[in-house]
Amino acid sequence: MNSKLPIAVSGVRPTGKQHLGNYFGAVKNFVKMQDIFNGYFFVADYHSLTTHPNAADLRDKSKNVALIYLACGLDPNKCALYLQSDVPQIPELYLIFNMHAYLGELEREATFKEKVRDQPNNVNAGLLTYPVLMTVDIIIHKALKVPVGKDQQQHVEMSRDFVRRFNNLYKVDYFPEPEPFSFAEKLVNVPSLDGEGKMSKSKPDHTCIYLEEEPDVIRKKVMRMVTDSGPKEPNSAKPLIIQNVFDMMKLVSSEETLKQFEDAYNNCSIRYGDMKKQLGEDMVLFLSPIREKIKELSADEKKLYEILGDGGSKARTSAAQTLKDVREIIGLKSF
Ligand code: ADP
Ligand code: TRP
Repeated sequence: MNSKLPIAVSGVRPTGKQHLGNYFGAVKNFVKMQDIFNGYFFVADYHSLTTHPNAADLRDKSKNVALIYLACGLDPNKCALYLQSDVPQIPELYLIFNMHAYLGELEREATFKEKVRDQPNNVNAGLLTYPVLMTVDIIIHKALKVPVGKDQQQHVEMSRDFVRRFNNLYKVDYFPEPEPFSFAEKLVNVPSLDGEGKMSKSKPDHTCIYLEEEPDVIRKKVMRMVTDSGPKEPNSAKPLIIQNVFDMMKLVSSEETLKQFEDAYNNCSIRYGDMKKQLGEDMVLFLSPIREKIKELSADEKKLYEILGDGGSKARTSAAQTLKDVREIIGLKSF
């Protein structure tokens, strides 16, 4: 890691298999960022506890996220790759920051409201203070940039509020205000295959393409994408379900292929069956190297644990300094 570079932090919750949305919304950016930022990339296992996973499941899924990070191209020599729960300074700073987060703002947060609707029997305090823990993940390394998808934008906004509040209260200019980051002009939103909202592991299996998916399953899922009877007039606007197919193609196909289907759409000669067939093949080509790499890496567990151990140690060093400073700023004395 190069300490002269600006700092970036991001994490992925180990709640299930990783999919194309996770790749394009998050991990792809991490990989590009590791050369120009001092990157701290982690498995957000504490965050997963809000949904009460069983221990074996949590372990497997955490390992899987770490494997995916590596398979997609994160290089442990360039960045710190670690488990959130390996950094005890995080829960300590979380406790401190909980004193600066107000019930009203936490209750108004969109993901919290969604969870209250979706899991009414498990509205725990950890869910409520989820944005505080996320803030701490970011600021414990004094990060400036947070590569996340659109759905996480509000959380990063909240972390800016918490930071500003802390700096104002203690009259310091200690924490920088973190910003969401993407290389694309707009934050990427990978659509669900059924055309309804974003691709997500909490949606039905057939609406989601996983990074480890076998070629035949990819082809089948793509062919099932909903389309319509085609444009009736040249150069007409695309309905959302059709735009989704084009958006997917933009992610994995070549510019020429995309243009070919754009032209066909605009002159009303498009055949969605052909388009989906092509999209399926391009998706298979795109995902095959990642799938193979995951298989290869999962055969060497010891190496994976060494990498995570080393990343944890880098993260603890950076976190310990921040916590020491914060304790001083707020008047906690260590004996
Ligand atoms: P999920 O919705 O499947 O549970 P997570 O909430 O674990 O996904 O998201 C992990 C990361 O992947 C976040 O940075 C998030 O913004 C990004 N991400 C997830 N789904 C998408 C999507 N469909 N499009 C773009 N980015 C996404
Ligand atoms: N909340 C993020 C998600 O669901 C995961 C996450 C936890 C995160 N802490 C973070 C992302 C810090 C960026 C920075 O995807």
